[in-house]
Amino acid sequence: GIFTIPNLSKQTIYRDSEQQGLDEQITIHFSHVVAENTPKGRTALYFKELVEEKSGGQIHVELYPNGMLYNDENEITALQHNDVQMIAPTYSKISNDVPEWGVLDLPFLFENETDVTRVLSSEVGDTLRQALEKQGIHGLGFWQNGFKQMIAKDAPVQTLADFKSKRMRTMASNVLTMQAKLLGATPQAVSFDEVNSVISKEAIDVQENTLSNIYSKSFYKEEPYITRSNHGILGYGVLMNQRFWDSLSTESKGIITVSMQEASAWNEKIARKMNVDDEQRMKAYGTHFYTLSTHEKARWKRTLQPLYHEFQQKDYRDILDAIERQLH
Ligand code: LMR
Repeated sequence: GIFTIPNLSKQTIYRDSEQQGLDEQITIHFSHVVAENTPKGRTALYFKELVEEKSGGQIHVELYPNGMLYNDENEITALQHNDVQMIAPTYSKISNDVPEWGVLDLPFLFENETDVTRVLSSEVGDTLRQALEKQGIHGLGFWQNGFKQMIAKDAPVQTLADFKSKRMRTMASNVLTMQAKLLGATPQAVSFDEVNSVISKEAIDVQENTLSNIYSKSFYKEEPYITRSNHGILGYGVLMNQRFWDSLSTESKGIITVSMQEASAWNEKIARKMNVDDEQRMKAYGTHFYTLSTHEKARWKRTLQPLYHEFQQKDYRDILDAIERQLH
């Protein structure tokens, strides 16, 4: 890219005994892949404001949106090397290193956002956060974007037959790759920052994403058919380098934790609102919207059922059971 990557790890933390209040001055470099005007982009900005205000400017958060520093392929490694201290990848992307997180990609697992929040604030959330530790990652929390919809280039996806011989962009994730295959499409894992380029090369026909991502990256201009399918959720693990977290004082940890709680509560509201507002904007532009029929939805569910069996056969049965206990 056009940005040179600064060697951040050496300058990230130093102590200044002259300072009042917090006795450490810290810079947290926080990289993410979406635009600023999205649920994740806005929540990251809000988190930055809260942390800086509560620490009296002693803790500084530098944001790098739009994949300007790192993309889907290298941001987790960058975090593990402490080249940045925070990232917020989707559950799907985390699942490559921490397979338990793949459970959140199971199609039709959740019916509404409230259920997602309830599940993630239960023991399920604790289990998922603990699973990060073996990768040297500290889980600060969860942010939501919303439900994924299907978006297509030449014709709307309305039945399973419409996926036949279509190339479908997915995030790199085992569950999502298998989902695309079960639907009848050919999966193509593409890093988020490359999606517009593969669309313009006509290398994909269909993708799944949230309305706010579709709007903020202008996918709707080339792929004008959106099917409201709500077949899966898209949300984020907010992650910090474990050694960096461990190096912080109790007071700094407290400020970050409280700011994270406030930012996460705000995130839920803003995420819903942005997805609704962006739908209106795309409608005004002339994007075509369809809704998956009840009958067709039942067929998609049946077709995708093998994903649940697959997940249960692995060692993650407990986590799926724990989610189901929260939902029923
Ligand atoms: C995607 O790759 O489609 C999303 O993960 C982008 C994001 O971070 O919301």
